[in-house]
Amino acid sequence: MIIAVDGPAAAGKGTIARALAQHFGYHFLDTGSLYRMVGLSLLRDGKTPHDEAAAVENARSLDVSRFCDADLRTEAVGAAASIVAVNPQVRAALLDFQRVFAQQSPGAVLDGRDIGTVVCPDADAKLYITASPEVRARRRQAELGAASYGDVLADIRARDARDSTRATAPLVAAADAVVIDTSDMDIDQAVAAAIAVVGRAAG
Ligand code: CDP
Repeated sequence: MIIAVDGPAAAGKGTIARALAQHFGYHFLDTGSLYRMVGLSLLRDGKTPHDEAAAVENARSLDVSRFCDADLRTEAVGAAASIVAVNPQVRAALLDFQRVFAQQSPGAVLDGRDIGTVVCPDADAKLYITASPEVRARRRQAELGAASYGDVLADIRARDARDSTRATAPLVAAADAVVIDTSDMDIDQAVAAAIAVVGRAAG
């Protein structure tokens, strides 16, 4: 059983995907963390995320055990992730790991941007989680603490634009995805809606 959960930044997909994995007893992979690891490696090495050769090299030799979650979650690392994620060779280098992860028994939930379209186009259930940019900026601001609302909103809009317009694996709902707009939902309502969709697919 493979469940694909895609959508833009801070729409709630990470929380929903984790809750789905817990509810159904499946493995969980936050695929954005892979791109964040590549972005963070470059920043730590004093390189710009626009250094394509270094990004590809980093993606090919990624050691996932080297990174801790707190460092990965900053907005600077999110922005760097979305810059390296434009490069098709970076994406190709991370593809096998994601596909192997998805094959685990009894099932796996993967969240990202291209899970239902590219990584696992044959997933058993596909969810596309979205919300208005303003709602997403408020959530991300609360999650990050200090940052200003205006800065967070600008960053989210820039990341949406970059993720949606890139040539390789752009952010888009798969034709067979169920769209859940969480703008007016709290997290319990969003999780319940997602469980209902997956329950139908599993049954
Ligand atoms: O948590 P948030 O939604 O802010 O971001 P994330 O899921 O950690 O992803 C960070 C960046 O990685 C995104 O803006 C995308 O550019 C990229 N990404 C991607 O291209 N493909 C994926 N499957 C997951 C993330």
